[in-house]
Amino acid sequence: MEEQQAVQRLEALKQEIAHHDRLYYVMDNPEISDYQYDQLMRELLAIEEQYPHLVAEDSPSQRVGGEALKQFDSYTHRNPLLSLMNAYGTDDLREFHQKICNDLGREEVEYVVEYKIDGLSIALYYEDGVLKNGVTRGDGITGEDVTANVRTVKNIPLRLQKSLPVLEARGEVYLPKASFARINEQREQNGETLFANCRNAAAGSIRQLDPKVTAQRDLRAFIYTMMHVEGAEPETHSQCVELLKEAGFTTMEAFVSSDIDAICDYCVYWGEHRHDLPFDIDGMVIKINALKDQQMLGNRAKNPRWAIAYKFPPEQGVTRIKDIAVQVGRTGAVTPVANLEPVFLAGSTISRATLHNEDFIREKDIRIGDYVVIQKAGEVIPEVVSVVTEKRNGSEQDYVFPQNCPVCGAALIRVEGEAAWRCSDSMTCPAQVREGIIHFASRDAMNIEGLGPAVITQLLDAGLIQNAADLYYLQKEQLLTLDRMGEKSADNLLNSLQTSKQRSLAQVVYALGIRLVGQNVAKVLARKFPTMGALRSASYDDLVVIDEVGPKIAESVVSYFAQERHSAFLLKLADAGVFMGSDEIVEQQQEKAAFAGKTFVLTGTLPTLDRREASALIEQAGGKTSGSVSKKTDYVLAGESAGSKLTKAQELGITIIDEETFLQMLNA
Ligand code: IVH
Repeated sequence: MEEQQAVQRLEALKQEIAHHDRLYYVMDNPEISDYQYDQLMRELLAIEEQYPHLVAEDSPSQRVGGEALKQFDSYTHRNPLLSLMNAYGTDDLREFHQKICNDLGREEVEYVVEYKIDGLSIALYYEDGVLKNGVTRGDGITGEDVTANVRTVKNIPLRLQKSLPVLEARGEVYLPKASFARINEQREQNGETLFANCRNAAAGSIRQLDPKVTAQRDLRAFIYTMMHVEGAEPETHSQCVELLKEAGFTTMEAFVSSDIDAICDYCVYWGEHRHDLPFDIDGMVIKINALKDQQMLGNRAKNPRWAIAYKFPPEQGVTRIKDIAVQVGRTGAVTPVANLEPVFLAGSTISRATLHNEDFIREKDIRIGDYVVIQKAGEVIPEVVSVVTEKRNGSEQDYVFPQNCPVCGAALIRVEGEAAWRCSDSMTCPAQVREGIIHFASRDAMNIEGLGPAVITQLLDAGLIQNAADLYYLQKEQLLTLDRMGEKSADNLLNSLQTSKQRSLAQVVYALGIRLVGQNVAKVLARKFPTMGALRSASYDDLVVIDEVGPKIAESVVSYFAQERHSAFLLKLADAGVFMGSDEIVEQQQEKAAFAGKTFVLTGTLPTLDRREASALIEQAGGKTSGSVSKKTDYVLAGESAGSKLTKAQELGITIIDEETFLQMLNA
């Protein structure tokens, strides 16, 4: 391609990709498939490789993260980043309102109420519509220039959609709860220390010196204000937000009202319902809407007079550590857990909290008998934050980390670079065996209904099973010998075992519990290797070339299949009739599958199936699910209180079905 032509093509691709990024990440409404998107990106990267000097700072290629930095430059903000006064209850809010009324000499003041996102503040500087700098808050005057990392945040536009010569936008970078859970799951599998909460994970990610790492963290941003803008003259905060939205940012829905009672109710409501949101919030922000009024009131040294943060009651509590025990997980990782004097926190009673690993206990100097601050962090179990040293009376005891597995007695080993100690006996350690079978039977794996931890423990204790394959050889009479196992439960369990033989290869691979092979990797492997036999014969080199499979995973898979006892185990599963994928069966299945190639969107509450079950059924029948309705959607599966997706489907004339029809189609 001639350079002249390359310039033109790059510009066109840049715009097209930015358009699709916006549809996907900001509007949540993609129009093209991942495959089509990849093709555009690939073409752009190929041209940029041929003409490296044409790589622009707003090129979508910058989103994947460029060169690692040695350190961040400091950046002096054009306007200081203030913080907010806090209100610790509705009384404080009413007092704030009263003061505003007095200062403005009016009874009526319009406010905007927004979520207070629990992330970290970011200032974004645009010139001629192009993102020039992304800067952390720092001390409010000077922050760190983290532009390379900010470029990887997919819903921050690299170029504005609206022509504004100068813009300084402010907002909050955060990590969605689902991404937080995924990242921590991966970290746990890799033996790395877990992030305490979404905020810490977001902070750790934006301050990464290697932008490629940041790019993989899936950060997002809500933009809530602009400090300096040329080319527009908004009069209210709401208009500023509207302008930001038109410019291509993700903004928040806000509640606008002059009624202080309604505002208080709204804040209290979100205090109680904050867990329903897909991101963490730690309060609500109440701002005067008219910019003229904001200017009139002005700022104090550190915070504006026209806004206040309503802080939710803390989800931390103080309690005493009665003792410390260790738990042995499926992979042998030994996790110390504090047994606590029960304390009520964020809607439930807490009596245990994780202490993560030996280093954590040592760094925080946690002793048995200590009073500690505990907190609920996102989806993970509560954790100990700090020790209340003032409450020590000298009777506290240091905790000595065991050298042997508390369950089987085998020596504990710690691989260099890993935080966890592991039980060295992966073959027979009863704790590992038990956890492995629990995992095998769990919902995302073989989904064996009626086979929970209690039944598994009984089966093991009674010597009826030694491993998960033995489950398929259980007889009804044997089951009837278990506690609380009647005729009906025994029949049900045998039936669930029978149906579980038909799980997809991906589920079976996941169920094996191979270290580092989570659900996602299992799916990838099952796609690349249509049968268990093929996967078993795969070499390290065959595996490591797969995108989602790094050296550690490849090694783990090879070493799993190299073990004699695993071959015997797989053989036993296959003999019992568990689906191990065969080329023929897979092909037949794909062709005949009820929903081959069809895209579904789920909305509302279905009468019997939950979302996960419905998605699994669709996938098993060759279809896929998407988060939003577009022209490419084949069916919308709608239940009760379906919302905007249903309306959209009606507008686009997409076939809408209910659960009953869905199940009929599936069985047809
Ligand atoms: S307005 C003058 N609105 O809360 C201060 N801040 O102490 C303007 N934050 O770290 C801030 N959500 O980054 C505002 N909807 C929201 C917010 C928000 C989160 C953060 C902000 C700052 C802290 C304020």
